[in-house]
Amino acid sequence: MNTTGQLFRVTTWGESHGTALGVVIDGCPANLALQEKDIQHDLNRRKPGQSTITTTRKEKDTVEILSGVYKGKTTGAPISLIVYNKDQRSKDYAKIKKAYRPSHSDFTYHKKYGNYDPRGGGRASARITLGRVAAGAIAKKILKKIAIVAYVQRVMDVEALVDQRKVTQKQVEKNIVRCPDTDAAIEMIALITDAKKNGDSLGGVIECVVRNLPAGLGEPEFDKLDADLAKICMSIPATKGFEIGSGFQGTYLYGSEHNDPFTMKGKKVVTTTNNSGGVQGGISNGMPLVLRLGFKPTSTIMQQQRTVSKSKKNVKLKATGRHDPCVIPRAVPIVEASVALVLCDHFLRWQAR
Ligand SMILES: Cc1cc2nc3c(=O)[nH]c(=O)nc-3n(C[C@H](O)[C@H](O)[C@H](O)COP(=O)(O)O)c2cc1C
Repeated sequence: MNTTGQLFRVTTWGESHGTALGVVIDGCPANLALQEKDIQHDLNRRKPGQSTITTTRKEKDTVEILSGVYKGKTTGAPISLIVYNKDQRSKDYAKIKKAYRPSHSDFTYHKKYGNYDPRGGGRASARITLGRVAAGAIAKKILKKIAIVAYVQRVMDVEALVDQRKVTQKQVEKNIVRCPDTDAAIEMIALITDAKKNGDSLGGVIECVVRNLPAGLGEPEFDKLDADLAKICMSIPATKGFEIGSGFQGTYLYGSEHNDPFTMKGKKVVTTTNNSGGVQGGISNGMPLVLRLGFKPTSTIMQQQRTVSKSKKNVKLKATGRHDPCVIPRAVPIVEASVALVLCDHFLRWQAR
């Protein structure tokens, strides 16, 4: 439902236009140094209104720690974090109250709950990912030297060339589209800007690389590392695909081409290729974890579209409100946080064994 994790348990709450949003983290080890600024960095990377290619909603998303920390260190008690909404404009959603936005959640939430909060997408809004990003910042602190780096790999048909072995967050943060290939980034920004001018939207791919992950994380049968990663990644709004390692491309190869040969590197067993993407049999093998997420074009667009009203009539709808013409630049820290939550949970389970 709204909780994820076994030992590192994270529960998010709040809606897009409610008073506040937040998260409760249970199971965080005691004595971890923790201050608001450790969390704020990733919230700033996720917040709306950060550039010309994101929604113009302006939120500072300033986080407050309500519990679980004493004199700058975690106590082992539940950590509660809160962020107040400041820039709601609920009147923008008047039309959406009457008709379903094509490919958004209005129809399914109405069908399922009858009573739901449509303002800003309510609980289906990407605003709720703020909680997982805040919790993910704590997970990253627990994971210490394990480097989790996500970046925009493709916007529509513009693809980036990225060295997965070396890419850093600093390179990713150099431009507003969060693509470490600066030439591709320029083209991506132009594409998004054009789509926005036309009242349209675009999708693309985020790749995430995890380096320095120890071998042995993941549990048979249903809590395989790749299965848990797929689940959390697919829970990010607007995701339509998940791949690990060679992914769907691997299906074009013979086994003789696809297998990752083992070899010794000093005293360490490594593989010479990484089609497995760092996971074999649901357990990490010590090679870099590599995963990709496909995001659809944002469903709310500023063009007239055919739809159905809540009174069951065929109508036309031109949405209003402030929207991301392409969600992926802001989804980069959300992907990192989601991956960090799963890895942190499995890391603590691995330690507990
Ligand atoms: C960072 C981020 C920002 C988003 N911004 C918008 C937006 O401005 N407008 C919109 O219609 N959808 C936006 N979405 C996607 C919707 O939340 C999502 O499409 C909707 O909840 C329906 O869920 P589904 O697409 O997963 O089926 C965003 C998603 C992410 C990850």
